[in-house]
Amino acid sequence: MIELEDKEWTVYVCQGSKCKKKKENFLKPFAKALKKEGLKGFVRIQKTQCNDQCKCAPVISVEPERKWYGKADEELARRLIGKIKDSLERKPDGRA
Ligand code: FES
Repeated sequence: MIELEDKEWTVYVCQGSKCKKKKENFLKPFAKALKKEGLKGFVRIQKTQCNDQCKCAPVISVEPERKWYGKADEELARRLIGKIKDSLERKPDGRA
């Protein structure tokens, strides 16, 4: 057995057909902001299949928040980036 390195945050992004059509709403601005803020090393973007919440597309869930979000948009992307930055600033070395 080997222990795999984990990231501080994981954002599960639904890539079912309904959500994928709306990836411009959340995924693109979120990924762009992660890169701009230098946070890519702390966040894993994990693509998922349909989560059976298609009426709320695009759907994401976030760990360690343990929250689900529907109608994810650029505003949510900005809020998450802020939360991620805040959580890392609270840790002396930026790591858990
Ligand atoms: S396609 Fe995303 S919840 Fe169904």
